[in-house]
Amino acid sequence: MKISIVGAGHVGLATGIGLVILGHEVIFVDINDNVVKAIESAKPPFHEEGLEDAMERHRGKYLVERNLQNAVASSEITFITVDTPSDDSGSVDLRNLAEASSQIGRALKNLERYHTIVVKSTVPPGTTEGFVKIILENTSGKKAFIDFGLAMNPEFLREGSALRDFLSPDRIVIGANDERTREILEQLYRNISSPKLVVDIETDEMIKYASNAFLAMKISFANEIGNLCKKLGIDSWKVLEGVGLDHRIGPYLLKSGLGWGGPCLPKDVRTLIRQFKQNGEEPLILEAVYKVNKEQAYKLVQLLKKYVSNLKGRKIGVLGLTYKPGVDDVKESIAYDIIKKLIDEGAHVIAHDPLGVQKFKSMYPDVSKIIEFAEVPEDVLKKTEIIVIATEWPQYEELDYSGKIIVDGRRVKKAEKTAAHYEGLCW
Ligand code: UGA
Repeated sequence: MKISIVGAGHVGLATGIGLVILGHEVIFVDINDNVVKAIESAKPPFHEEGLEDAMERHRGKYLVERNLQNAVASSEITFITVDTPSDDSGSVDLRNLAEASSQIGRALKNLERYHTIVVKSTVPPGTTEGFVKIILENTSGKKAFIDFGLAMNPEFLREGSALRDFLSPDRIVIGANDERTREILEQLYRNISSPKLVVDIETDEMIKYASNAFLAMKISFANEIGNLCKKLGIDSWKVLEGVGLDHRIGPYLLKSGLGWGGPCLPKDVRTLIRQFKQNGEEPLILEAVYKVNKEQAYKLVQLLKKYVSNLKGRKIGVLGLTYKPGVDDVKESIAYDIIKKLIDEGAHVIAHDPLGVQKFKSMYPDVSKIIEFAEVPEDVLKKTEIIVIATEWPQYEELDYSGKIIVDGRRVKKAEKTAAHYEGLCW
């Protein structure tokens, strides 16, 4: 099949290259010139495992376009994978979605063939039918589910393993309100053997939020248990290992520590909380999930104060800036919260990250102006005795921590074994 992908970020690019691997032809569309140029030269514009190889191997089977209407005109299906960021109140910014929808609508107007539009961006329940559909119909003069197909099909891709997750998902959930669209999507994914669930569009929008909220809840639960274990002198990782062996619970996302950040979980939890409130329901669990997570950075700084009661003028090392290892993304990274607190208390920070420094500098310019960045982690260890670990990059397992005070939010074993003073956040 011929597919257009609107928005070539982590989700769009991994989905598109995944579809190419499944044998489809893909046209990427992006408004960012750097993204277009990168794809033209078969390079992902960000770090994503396996993507560069796959792009090189499949050169010629995908194209990149600046003009969305041209892409729609030469394809059968259009996936919308644009960003839908949310602010602190959980309100979702739908401007990118609106712009993409109206351009697709204009392309549909002159199109003789049947075309299917699939929303893959995470959107609050009701958005596909109450917002996207209306824009498409108004700009095209055509009727959804009759003249063109419309579906919702959320992504469950983790950054860093997005391509792998696309090709072997736990499930594919197709949100379709009509038979024809359902069949088109089933056909599209026929070479993936995972379970496929077909639901209506609004149910599918909710499945995405409920899934991410559950993942966040699992981690916050692990952290809350971890905080009590710390007070009792119990190793929460052992406790949670024992808990996770119950197949109804499972071992995943039960590593206690600094908690969850990134471009998805925080924003989706906030949006779901807002949905509860807008509908007169109290989000009792989710508010606690969010609060527990926010507290972890503060708890880590408190632990640090066991060793350095006054941070003013002290040099503190921070290892790790990204929201998890294996990615270059620093969005809503807990490392930022920690650094902000350290600076507010007058500390000098020297930070290292193998991939995230550039993005950290452009996302957090205020903080970046004040702190020092180390090229290699060894420089952090050379320049200070007191170090915080915020991201568990594998290379931090290779360092020499002897003589150092380490306050660890992620559990780097080598530091635990060899530091002069070691303090784990939840163990
Ligand atoms: C998350 C979901 O896992 C994906 O299923 C979803 O598709 C994606 O959001 C999205 O909505 O696009 P991602 O944000 O890439 O994916 O990150 P995860 O691998 O789930 O990790 C999230 C955070 O939890 C990280 O900051 C990580 O350090 C933290 N974490 C993870 C823990 O603190 N403890 C754990 O045991 C596991």
